[in-house]
Amino acid sequence: MKKQYRLRIFDFLNCLSDILDWISPVLNDHHKQVALMAMRLAEALELPVLEQNEIVCAGILHDIGAISLAERMETMRFENTTGQSHAELGYYLINIFEPMKKAADMIRFHHVPWESGKGRFYKGWQVPLGSRILFLADHIALLIKKNREILGQIEDIKARIIHESDVLFEPALVDAFLNLADREYFWLDLVSPLIGKQLEQSVKLEAIFLNNQDLLAFSSLIRRMIDFRSPFTATHSSGVSATAQYLGKLAGLNESECFELKVAGYLHDLGKLAIPTEILEKPDKLTNEEFNLMRAHTFYTYRVLQPIEDLAQINMYGSYHHERLDGTGYPFRLSRKDLPLGSRLLAVADVFTALTEDRPYRKGMSNEQTILILDKMGENNKLDPEIVNLIKIDHDSINQARIEAQNSSRDEYRKFLAEIG
Ligand SMILES: [Fe+2]
Ligand SMILES: [Fe+2]
Ligand SMILES: [Fe+2]
Repeated sequence: MKKQYRLRIFDFLNCLSDILDWISPVLNDHHKQVALMAMRLAEALELPVLEQNEIVCAGILHDIGAISLAERMETMRFENTTGQSHAELGYYLINIFEPMKKAADMIRFHHVPWESGKGRFYKGWQVPLGSRILFLADHIALLIKKNREILGQIEDIKARIIHESDVLFEPALVDAFLNLADREYFWLDLVSPLIGKQLEQSVKLEAIFLNNQDLLAFSSLIRRMIDFRSPFTATHSSGVSATAQYLGKLAGLNESECFELKVAGYLHDLGKLAIPTEILEKPDKLTNEEFNLMRAHTFYTYRVLQPIEDLAQINMYGSYHHERLDGTGYPFRLSRKDLPLGSRLLAVADVFTALTEDRPYRKGMSNEQTILILDKMGENNKLDPEIVNLIKIDHDSINQARIEAQNSSRDEYRKFLAEIG
């Protein structure tokens, strides 16, 4: 029987939004606020449940395309008028996964103002109602002052929104908002520490079942979110994935385990979404504080994937890639006896790829240098020496598989850059 993976997309997105907003305290729950408000508006407009769900999914990821911290901050200004590029980027990132296509369309146009109805279209494309709902919800969220209690702010926020009715916002949506705005719960939920729970309970999203091909599409979407943030990382996960899969075969893992290694390679750096690109791309040595932030990334990979029970094995393979056999790795300080073969394989694949891949500021290392370093790590009980041996025996074909995967990712990344202009 073919394996199926059960996924409640919403639970996953909910966690993902946590780490997206974790980059800065200023962003605190922004994605959740927009998602919850968009859902309340969609309910008030009596949109079909299916559409409500798509709107919530779009809301919870709407700024995924704003990649650096500076850009994320820019999206947090009410008056910001340069939102189209991150919206477009968000669209291209997620529209490759069928169940998210509608949400991708909504994200694409979530910065198009209404302008007395002109905003029904953008450059000839029809703007979905969901986009206009997100646009309004986003702006309401931006008007909330974090350092003041919320109920005293309602009248000011209403006034600002009314002022922009028919200019920025569709009047019918403003009416729906004004109706909600008189109810305290609408506001209290937005600033409540329980907002994530509230969203989870309000969303009527069923679980879906993914076959291998679907899971690959889903993990590719995440790979693109992680890697395409920076030319420094644009192909890294593909390289790790191909290397790990190849090593898995050599180590005698069966087809399904090798497939899971491939997926784990795509997901292993998921937690980097919580790290500002300013740190990822820093040319100089990281300060202690920056390094500590960086070290948290595998912890976040683990926690974001944890609620998806059917990905438990993949999560272990991916999230343990900075654990070391002698127990000096992070974040769980596991040692050899706790690390499944898949995790040990992925750890080697990660180091191998990091050493051999070209980066914008340097060429990848030679075979000899790479083997020297891997050997040392094997001897010192950091990496599994038997796996390091596999690399030594079959170095050229492993490296070839890695290069091919990274080349094809590079093409994909270039195409992506061309699409977003
Ligand atoms: Fe935005
Ligand atoms: Fe936003
Ligand atoms: Fe990593």
